[in-house]
Amino acid sequence: MSTPVLRTEKVTQRFGGLVAVNAVDMHVDQGEIVGLIGPNGAGKTTLFNCITGQYTPTEGKIYFHDKDITGMTPYQITELGMCRTFQNIKLFPHMTIMENAMVGAHTRIKENLWDVIFHTKAYKKGEKQAEERARKALELTGLSDNPYYYGTDLPYGKQRRLEIARAIASDPEVLMFDEPAAGMNEGETADLTEFIREIRGLGYTILLIEHDMRLVMNLCDRIYVLDHGTLIASGKPEEIKQNPLVIEAYLGKKA
Ligand SMILES: Nc1ncnc2c1ncn2[C@@H]1O[C@H](COP(=O)(O)OP(=O)(O)OP(=O)(O)O)[C@@H](O)[C@H]1O
Ligand SMILES: [Mg+2]
Repeated sequence: MSTPVLRTEKVTQRFGGLVAVNAVDMHVDQGEIVGLIGPNGAGKTTLFNCITGQYTPTEGKIYFHDKDITGMTPYQITELGMCRTFQNIKLFPHMTIMENAMVGAHTRIKENLWDVIFHTKAYKKGEKQAEERARKALELTGLSDNPYYYGTDLPYGKQRRLEIARAIASDPEVLMFDEPAAGMNEGETADLTEFIREIRGLGYTILLIEHDMRLVMNLCDRIYVLDHGTLIASGKPEEIKQNPLVIEAYLGKKA
């Protein structure tokens, strides 16, 4: 078997006395859609934060392919090829849809201060490439109609899509979504499910956190379940649905 694209080895994150993530081993293979689920406060976002460099885990290791990326900065990790969206939308206010997408695209452009100040040829070429990449990401996410509107003027479901566009514009290999369907209505969630399936077809590998069980069960090849920081189950959607530990974690002991 080939090396997983992403792998965590006994990743632990403590906050004072609280063990938010407890010795988690997981992996994501090339081309998979993997779900990370669990009740509120289970540690899902914290694990994402460890993987994408917002936190350096208290213990454990994280590998991207064979490379140890533990403790790298979010910028370095994006440059390597992993990009995420956030549980709470983090669009830049006062920026157009296009500019928001270009923020993602810029992570790929090598510019130095000299280029930026003097608008050198290299700078202009870089800007053109970033714009092209941003435009493609907007087309892919169905947001290319009015690229010069403010991002924050979009309806909620489309703001979430713009976050995805910004991540895609960074040209990642792995996309990580933290509750992409949060706040969406049923129709928007169904569209999003279809969209994620489509982009997997384009070769992206996807790790997502989601509470919407229909989306998770319809979309994911494999699922990991966290409860109180600890992995309590992993497997295919059908296995997860029937796992008594998972049912208990979600519904309480009496279930
Ligand atoms: N920066 C922090 N400092 C202290 N405690 C934190 C911090 N971030 C998260 N926690 C705690 O760690 C635990 C896990 O939180 P986390 O946000 O990872 O859960 P989650 O599974 O993403 O939950 P939700 O489904 O509600 O988003 C919670 O008890 C939370 O209060
Ligand atoms: Mg969370």
